[in-house]
Amino acid sequence: MTGEHDLAVNFSVPFRYAVHFTERVFDPDNPVLIDALRRIEKTRRHRVLVVVDAGVERAHPALAAGLRSYAARYAQHMQLLGEPVVVPGGEQVKNDPAIVAELQQRMATLGLDRQSFCLVIGGGAVQDMAGFAAATAHRGVRVIRVPTTVLGQNDSGVGVKNGVNAFGMKNFVGSFAVPFAVINDFEFLGTLSRRDRVAGMAEAVKVALVRDAAFFEWLTQQTRELADLEPVSTAYMIAHCARLHVEHIAGGGDPFEQGSARPLDFGHWAAHKLESLTEHRLRHGEAVGIGIALDTRYSVEAGLLDPETGERIVRLLTGLGFHLYDAALELRDATGQLRVLDGLREFREHLGGELTVSLLRAPGRPVDVHEMDVARVARAIEWLTARHRDAA
Ligand SMILES: NC(=O)c1ccc[n+]([C@@H]2O[C@H](COP(=O)([O-])OP(=O)(O)OC[C@H]3O[C@@H](n4cnc5c(N)ncnc54)[C@H](O)[C@@H]3O)[C@@H](O)[C@H]2O)c1
Ligand SMILES: [Zn+2]
Repeated sequence: MTGEHDLAVNFSVPFRYAVHFTERVFDPDNPVLIDALRRIEKTRRHRVLVVVDAGVERAHPALAAGLRSYAARYAQHMQLLGEPVVVPGGEQVKNDPAIVAELQQRMATLGLDRQSFCLVIGGGAVQDMAGFAAATAHRGVRVIRVPTTVLGQNDSGVGVKNGVNAFGMKNFVGSFAVPFAVINDFEFLGTLSRRDRVAGMAEAVKVALVRDAAFFEWLTQQTRELADLEPVSTAYMIAHCARLHVEHIAGGGDPFEQGSARPLDFGHWAAHKLESLTEHRLRHGEAVGIGIALDTRYSVEAGLLDPETGERIVRLLTGLGFHLYDAALELRDATGQLRVLDGLREFREHLGGELTVSLLRAPGRPVDVHEMDVARVARAIEWLTARHRDAA
């Protein structure tokens, strides 16, 4: 029955942002940042609050001075609001709600408005936390991201999501918020730990497997170069992975994930759970590596994927430097159930609707399933465990 006062409200909002690839982003001769700030209002003096990952600040002690010189050169169009806010790097920044509140307090004190900018320089965790703080201050101030990790540059930093952890769940509190611009500066990666550089490659393997068979082949041919962090291969891997992600966001038909399927989250149901089960001892990328191996083996066990291809995928991951096992895989609750299986329920709840997990028929050919067989998950875990024991 239609009420006489019912209103049908329909509108759509176009979104636009650029992902720039550059080097020495804060060199005053590099116009990428100032051009990004001036994209809409050319003549205004833009107000900018800078948030920096403590790990980046430590590795780049001249950063704050560099920013000041940059702002001085473009003083007509850019004003820094005080000193950069330095926040802890890594997952801990997403686990402490006080950090979000402190950052928002700073925004309030400085009088940030919706047309002011938050320039966030850091890894995926800092981007997620600061992006959330900015998205919810005044219901959204502009964010320019400068991701400083492999994962930030090829995946999390180029997308439209933010969030922090709460109630023992990854990204339970967060929002979809489109960045004003993203600037990937390859130079930052030079100071990243080997562990974090390897971890970030998990997302490249993931997106290759669900989107681009040719990219998967390229990764298998470049494994050694990538494992050695050879700059040309690494730069291509990042740029191509970022491209596949933004193409999915812009052209995939569901940028804000309103449906139940999340095709780019191959391997992630287990990964998110492993991150919480290990209390974030595992990095996101490390957990995704294990999650990909698990769902690859599950696909073989389910008769979807041929065992030889499954083996190639696992060899690619180990060749890149991933350890495809963690003791958390074998944790059981009081009833004897594998605890990682809770990840399936949490994954469904995060998305709403029916459980939808992507499996593989072949690289580039994912298939959605709506049920996961518990015994088969257990067999896939046993397979990873046995492999790990053999290698030890
Ligand atoms: N929003 C999304 O769409 C999305 C997607 C994927 C992952 N994520 C999130 O991203 C996070 C992981 O991000 P990450 O892999 O970038 O790691 P990270 O942010 O946890 O950073 C890892 C470590 O590297 C340090 N660091 C960062 N840049 C550095 C540099 N250039 N030199 C030296 N040290 C540096 C940090 O201080 C930290 O200690 C997870 O919380 C994950 O959930 C979000
Ligand atoms: Zn991920």
